[in-house]
Amino acid sequence: MAEDLSIIKGDKTAEYKSIIPQIDALVSGEPDLVANLANTVAALKEQFGWFWVGFYLVKGDELVLGPFQGPVACTRIKKGRGVCGTSWAEARTLVVPDVEAFPGHIACSSLSRSEIVVPIIRNGQVIGVLDVDSEHLDHFDETDRVFLEEIVASLNFEV
Ligand code: SME
Repeated sequence: MAEDLSIIKGDKTAEYKSIIPQIDALVSGEPDLVANLANTVAALKEQFGWFWVGFYLVKGDELVLGPFQGPVACTRIKKGRGVCGTSWAEARTLVVPDVEAFPGHIACSSLSRSEIVVPIIRNGQVIGVLDVDSEHLDHFDETDRVFLEEIVASLNFEV
């Protein structure tokens, strides 16, 4: 059952360590995928205040927009296109300190300056990505990669 989140102010590691168990509590025992993805991005948005955070899910040869928090975004992204499609094609996390320097970056909003995209891998296949955008340059680093990979690894997609 959802309760108010406890939002702390600290360094990035402390903030992830505070919010991750709260996300686990929100999604545990709830089998509905959309509900769990929605609460995950809502909790991350509340804790970190990022410009945009959301999921894209693989459907056929495209990523299709899933639950997100932030401004309206591109609905479909082809494999290999943009940061999200490249993360899917290469099955690895991409940290982009300056989106304008990333060839083929898809600008859903001109305000987005840096980005991290984490693939969701199940049984060796990418089934979606978690995308986070910031209006600040060079906003994401190794700490974000480690904790966001932990978050997507613990999500239950078996529905
Ligand atoms: N910038 C992404 C597209 C998704 S939006 O940022 C929400 C990309 O290049 O794949």
